[in-house]
Amino acid sequence: MDTVSASETVSLELEDIQSGVLHPRPSPYVGTYVLLRIDDRVAGRELLRRLHRVLAARGPSSDVARDAWVTVALTYQGLKALGVPQESLDSFAPEFQEGMAARAAELGDVGESSPAHWEWPLGTPDVHVALAALSPDAARLASVVERARRAHEELPGVEVIWRQDCYQLPTGRTSFGFKDGIGQPAVEGSGIPGSNPRERPIKLGEFILGYPDEMGGLPPMPTPEVLGRNGTYIVFRKLHTRVAAYRQYLRAKAASREDEALLGAKMVGRWQSGAPLTLSPDHDDPQLGADSERNNDFDYHDDLRGFKCPAGAHARRANPRDALDGEGSVNVRLHRMIRRGTSYGPMLPDGVLEDDGVDRGIVFVFVGAHLKRQFEFVKTQWINDGIFIGAPAEKDPLAGPNDGTDTFTIPQRPIRRRLQGLPPFIVTRGGEYCFVPSLRALRWLAELET
Ligand code: HEM
Repeated sequence: MDTVSASETVSLELEDIQSGVLHPRPSPYVGTYVLLRIDDRVAGRELLRRLHRVLAARGPSSDVARDAWVTVALTYQGLKALGVPQESLDSFAPEFQEGMAARAAELGDVGESSPAHWEWPLGTPDVHVALAALSPDAARLASVVERARRAHEELPGVEVIWRQDCYQLPTGRTSFGFKDGIGQPAVEGSGIPGSNPRERPIKLGEFILGYPDEMGGLPPMPTPEVLGRNGTYIVFRKLHTRVAAYRQYLRAKAASREDEALLGAKMVGRWQSGAPLTLSPDHDDPQLGADSERNNDFDYHDDLRGFKCPAGAHARRANPRDALDGEGSVNVRLHRMIRRGTSYGPMLPDGVLEDDGVDRGIVFVFVGAHLKRQFEFVKTQWINDGIFIGAPAEKDPLAGPNDGTDTFTIPQRPIRRRLQGLPPFIVTRGGEYCFVPSLRALRWLAELET
């Protein structure tokens, strides 16, 4: 790793970074994910040339007034299909080269969630290009999708192989009923604020390749520089949520409807409105949940034993804030991530406890420069394992690979409460590790002559 002197000024080339990377999504929005296969590298390059034109026409990513956009990402197989030289392919992160399906056992994607059961073509070598198109409303989405469609029409060597519509409700709530997308880091130098005023902005190199990161140096970057710089990695996972099973479980364990809401909140670390347990431990506070100035303004130092928010709650596991930093052993800043999660499928109407058989859930999206120490670390060490909170046998009660024998402990006086027999509430339908090239890199890929 090269070292960079602390005094060196780092200026972010925001105009070269695809807007979906750092830029918060509009709220609410509708969107579409499209996967394509490149059967002919010349056609693939032409596709990228046209997509580059669509992205470049949109203007710099700093322009928050723009409201509909497309993000273009490539899998390792996609880079290969485009004819990227082997030396360059070898310079990408090993996890990216392997692909998410090959990492399944490690990630806890086993049983029903294993790649053998994934929705085709997720996890297969057919997935080459991933496009995300987003807009505040359906009309503008249709126009942006149309522009992207024109980019791949009449290209016989490029095939659309999968499409998934998604959306964010005006409440920001996803299928289990909780407002999501609140916790986001501030990225140094981007001008885009984070949501927790207590968290110092995280170094650019944690999210964009080519800049110093939290370790104080330049992290490994794919070569040549024109390909790697200003790019980043994304993870996308289609996660089916078993909402009826979740509601039935809470109903069976709770003493009352109020208790149901409390148990649900203890599992997440927030009430459904988004109000954090740390700031409102006993009851939901919708005003707090809706207030972006206050709903993430907290840490855990005065709740280290988890009487307000259990150490095992999903959001506290995924970002333990000062609860771990306090002990000096783990630098939480090395495991931060930008999330762009979204809902798919219709919501199960409030109060319904029977499964209607409809597929619904979340398309989880991670953005970061370090697949292994950000996404994979958080998933394997903090979500799938409880060693770090002193409860080795306990997984994340909501997002962990529970199998019907798992337990969730809620610290409480005089005696703690234990929820037993946690079933899996989430089934992985598939996913991919992708690379999001910069605009310059897209052009470089489009002009390859191998
Ligand atoms: C279907 C699966 C999942 C659901 C339903 C879910 C839901 C939620 C909810 C409701 C929140 C609280 C809102 C917020 O703080 O923004 C949250 C926070 C978070 N989740 Fe998830 N999540 C899921 C999977 C994951 C996975 C797989 C990861 C990472 C590997 C993850 C990482 C995070 C992070 C980093 C936060 C923010 C914590 C904070 O900053 O306090 N989530 N999630």
